[in-house]
Amino acid sequence: MERIIIDCDPGHDDAVALAMARGLSDKIKVEAIIATYGNQSIDKTLTNTLNLAQALKYDAPVYTGSLRPLIRERVAAGYIHGENGLAGPVFPPCTRYCNGNGITTALDLVINNPGEITFVSVGPFTDLAVCIKADPRFAKSLKRIVVMGGAINRSGNVTPSAEFNVYADPEAAQIVFNSGVDVVMFGLDVTLQLTLSDEIIENVKKMPATSYTPIFLAAMECYVAACKEYVHDYPSMHDPCTIAYLADPSIFEFERRSVQVDCKSELNYGRTVAAFPNGEGNVLVGVKAYKEKFWSLFYEALSRLP
Ligand code: BDR
Ligand code: CA
Repeated sequence: MERIIIDCDPGHDDAVALAMARGLSDKIKVEAIIATYGNQSIDKTLTNTLNLAQALKYDAPVYTGSLRPLIRERVAAGYIHGENGLAGPVFPPCTRYCNGNGITTALDLVINNPGEITFVSVGPFTDLAVCIKADPRFAKSLKRIVVMGGAINRSGNVTPSAEFNVYADPEAAQIVFNSGVDVVMFGLDVTLQLTLSDEIIENVKKMPATSYTPIFLAAMECYVAACKEYVHDYPSMHDPCTIAYLADPSIFEFERRSVQVDCKSELNYGRTVAAFPNGEGNVLVGVKAYKEKFWSLFYEALSRLP
């Protein structure tokens, strides 16, 4: 059983990651969900996280993470995920509430369970970096870190050089990649291999409905429309890669690398740069996704939702 903390900024694809983790609860135990700023401000991402936790019938408590990046000004991705950060679904009144501070919770959980907890980060890396800097026992006690962020062999999606989660807080990402902890990185190299299609949406419509089905369909309608307008393609399942990996690592192929983040240049600010592959480094960089395996796990996870 993989015991995880999931740190997210929902976010259309974050929502799918939360849904998959819930559906795969025979393999993944979500110990805590932290909402961080990212796609939108923390008030919006926290509201979305609480709504999703209720809709998905999560037992796991929901915490609040960082309000802003370590150094840079905050940037958002409202043009993709909407003004409220999760355009599309309409949720009933929420009875879930924020259980407190995500940073102190993550520190306690990880340090008190050495070698047990995987930190999954699918938004800006700020919370992870703050925990790493706050107490050296945190990095030593983590089982591993699994992130969505960066790109090594291709251009970015928010600037020609940078992917959104790393660009949102490059200094934090640099701390994480250089923490010495084993990092599994799902950057655009691999996440862009998993684009949604009309066929996949139609297949979900044909499945027996769960309480998540209308949320998924309404969210994807907006996500698809925004990506067609701004990215000129169907949206990718970026964040769900992290969860799919934990349930079935054989869906992906990796190269072991060291990764640095450009925090200095104007043009390449937030670019992830991988050292030449020599079999060394603390980062397993995802380079290939086996699509059929991924989508069959996706359907399986959704079919098991309450
Ligand atoms: C990442 O940016 C966000 O908009 C998505 O939720 C994902 O985490 C993709 O670059
Ligand atoms: Ca995200």
